[in-house]
Amino acid sequence: MSDGQSILLTGGSGYVGSHTYVALVQAGFKPYILDNFSNSKKNVVERLERITGLPVPWHEGDTRDVSLLQEIIVKNDIAAVMHFAGFKSVSESVANPLKYFDNNLAGMIGLFKAMENSACRTLVFSSSATVYGDPIEIPITEKSPKNFLNPYGYTKIVCEEMLASLSVSNTQWRNGVLRYFNPVGAHPSGLIGEDPSGPPNNLMPYLAQVAVGKLPILNIYGNDYPTPDGTGVRDYIHVQDLAEAHVAALKTLFKTGSGFTVNIGTGRGYSVMDVVYEFEIACGKSIPYQFVERRSGDIAVCYADATLAKNLLNWNAKLSLTDMCIDSWRWQSNDFS
Ligand code: NAD
Ligand code: UD1
Repeated sequence: MSDGQSILLTGGSGYVGSHTYVALVQAGFKPYILDNFSNSKKNVVERLERITGLPVPWHEGDTRDVSLLQEIIVKNDIAAVMHFAGFKSVSESVANPLKYFDNNLAGMIGLFKAMENSACRTLVFSSSATVYGDPIEIPITEKSPKNFLNPYGYTKIVCEEMLASLSVSNTQWRNGVLRYFNPVGAHPSGLIGEDPSGPPNNLMPYLAQVAVGKLPILNIYGNDYPTPDGTGVRDYIHVQDLAEAHVAALKTLFKTGSGFTVNIGTGRGYSVMDVVYEFEIACGKSIPYQFVERRSGDIAVCYADATLAKNLLNWNAKLSLTDMCIDSWRWQSNDFS
C-alpha cells in the first residue's frame, strides 16, 4: 500500500491513463485527472466512479496551461505526475507534424514549468517502443540505439532527452520513463477501454470493430515479412498489466529516489494471424480479412527484452493474449462510443 500520496494524471481519461487511475486507487494512492478531452470522452469519469465506487477528482484543462497545472499541483499537494497527455497517431503526425510538436513537446514543456515552479519533481512518462525505430536487435533492450521513423517517434525521443537534461540540471528530478510496447485489452468490467475517434490505426481496435460489424474487413498489411507466417510480429501487452507497471514505477521512484528508463512489454511476440485466430475464439465469429500491401513505416518484428522491468520494478506482465482478446471483445461489445 502507499501513504496515500496525491498523483496527477495528465491525459488521465484516455486509454492508458484511465486504467492506471483504477490501479492507483486500488494501490491506495489518490489520483487526480487533468484532461482536455481532445481524444477521450467526459463520461469516462462516471465510468471510473462506477468501477472504483468513489468520486473521481478531475479538471478539464490543457498541459500547455502552466498556471492551471501549477495551481492543481499546489492545491492538491501533488507528490508525482504521470504524463499520459499527448497525441499518438503515426499517420496523423506525418500529415501534420506541427500539431504533434505543439501538443507533445510544448505540452511537456508546460508541465515541466509547472512542476519546477511548484517543486514537484517526480514524474512517470509514457514513452514508446517507437523510440527504437527499426530495431537493430530482437528482443530489444533499453540499450538499443534510438531512432525515429516519423514525427510522433521524434517527439518521444525529444521528450526523453528533455527529461534527461532536467535530471542533470537538478538532481531532485526523479523520472521514470516507461517505453510501452503494444498496449491492448480493456478493464475486465468492460466499462473502460480503447476508444479511438474515427477508424482505428492499430490492429486490436480495428479487429474488434470488424468483429462487431462496424467495419467490413480487416486489411492485413503484408504477409511476406521474414516471420513464421509472414505477418508482422509485435509485443502485445494487456493494458491492465501496463497499469500495474505504472504503480510499480511510482513505488520504485518513491523508494529509491532514482530515475530509470524501462521497456514495458511481455517479452513475447505474436503475429497478426496469431491475434486474428485468438480474437476469433474470443468473439466466437470468424473475422473477414484480406492481405494487402505492407504499411509504410512498418517493421517486421518488435518485442521487448523485459528483464530490466522485472529486476528494477519487480514487475512483469501476467495476462495472456487470450485475456487481451476476451477483454477487448467485452469492451467492444458494450459499445460506449
Ligand atoms: P489516449 O489518446 O487514449 O489518451 C491521451 C489523453 O490525453 C486523452 O484523453 C486526450 O484527451 C488527452 N490529451 C491530449 N493532449 C492533451 C493536452 N495537451 N492536455 C491535456 N490532455 C491532453 O492515448 P493513450 O493510448 O492512453 O496513450 C497515452 C500516452 O501513452 C500517450 O502519450 C501515447 O503517446 C503513449 N503511448 C501509447 C501507446 C498506445 O498504443 N496506446 C503506445 C506507446 C506510447
Ligand atoms: C503502431 C505505430 C507505433 C506506435 C504503436 C502504438 C505505425 C507505423 N507504428 O505500431 O509507432 O508506437 O502503433 O500506438 O503506425 N496491422 C494490420 N492491419 C491493421 C492494423 C495493423 O495488419 O489494420 C498490423 C501492422 O502491420 C503490424 C501489427 O498489425 O504488423 C500491429 O500494428 P499496430 O497495432 O498499428 O502497432 P505497431 O505497428 O506496432
